[in-house]
Amino acid sequence: MLFELHRVSASRGGTEVLREVSLTLPEGASCVAGDSGSGKSTLLRLLNRLADPDAGTIAYGGRALGSMAVLELRREVALVPQLPALLPGTVAENVAFGPGLIGREVEVGSLLELAGLPAAFAGREADRLSVGEQQRVMLARALALEPRVLLLDEPTSALDARARDRVEETLVDLRRRLGLSLVLVTHDLAQAERLADRVVRLESGRVVEADGDRRDAAQPAGAE
Ligand SMILES: Nc1ncnc2c1ncn2[C@@H]1O[C@H](COP(=O)(O)OP(=O)(O)O)[C@@H](O)[C@H]1O
Ligand SMILES: [Mg+2]
Repeated sequence: MLFELHRVSASRGGTEVLREVSLTLPEGASCVAGDSGSGKSTLLRLLNRLADPDAGTIAYGGRALGSMAVLELRREVALVPQLPALLPGTVAENVAFGPGLIGREVEVGSLLELAGLPAAFAGREADRLSVGEQQRVMLARALALEPRVLLLDEPTSALDARARDRVEETLVDLRRRLGLSLVLVTHDLAQAERLADRVVRLESGRVVEADGDRRDAAQPAGAE
C-alpha cells in the first residue's frame, strides 16, 4: 500500500479541517475529490510532510511517515502545488534547481517534453508564461527529482477544457512510461473518475466515500 492514513486529524489556522480521516491509497492513480474547502489540499500536504497531523498516523510504503527524514521522503514523493510558484529566471533554471542542490544535472528538454511542453521552452523567462504553461513547468520541476509518487493539487483548475485534456493525457502517459503513482486532488468528480483507479471523496474534512475503485464510483447515481 502506498499510503495508509489512520484516524488523521489536522488543522489550519487553529481550526480542525480534517477529522479522523482513515483511508488507503494504493500504487497507481488515486484521486481525492471534494468541494472547495473540504480539506483536499491539507490532506495532500500531509503526504509529503509540508504539514504534520494533530492526531492519527500516516504510513508510506508501510513506514511511519514521522520516522522518515523529510528530504528522503520528498525525493520519492513530490508535490505539484495548485498555484504555480516559479523562481525568477528561465524555465531551464527552474527545472534544474532542485537537482542542482544535490549536484545533479538534468536534461531539461526531455523533462519539459515529459510534462507536455516543447523543449524550446527551456530558454523562456518563467514570468512570461501562461498559467497553464507555468503549471507544466512545475510538473517538469517535480519530475526532475525522479519521484516515485506525484502529488498533484488541482493541476487543471486554471485551464480551459482543451488544455485540461492535454494535461490529463500527460498524466496518463507519465504513469504508463515512468510507472509513477499519482495522488491527484480535484474538485471535479468527473476528472477523478477519468483518471483514477480509486476515488476518495471528502466532505467538510471527513471521508464520505472511500471504497471503491472506478467500477464502484461509476455505479448509478443514487448509490451515493
Ligand atoms: N493557511 C490557512 N489558514 C487558515 N485556514 C486555512 C488555511 N488554509 C486553508 N484553510 C482552511 O482550511 C479548510 C480546508 O482547506 P483546504 O485543505 O485548502 O481545502 P481544499 O483544498 O479542499 O479547498 C478551508 O476551510 C480553508 O479555508
Ligand atoms: Mg485546495
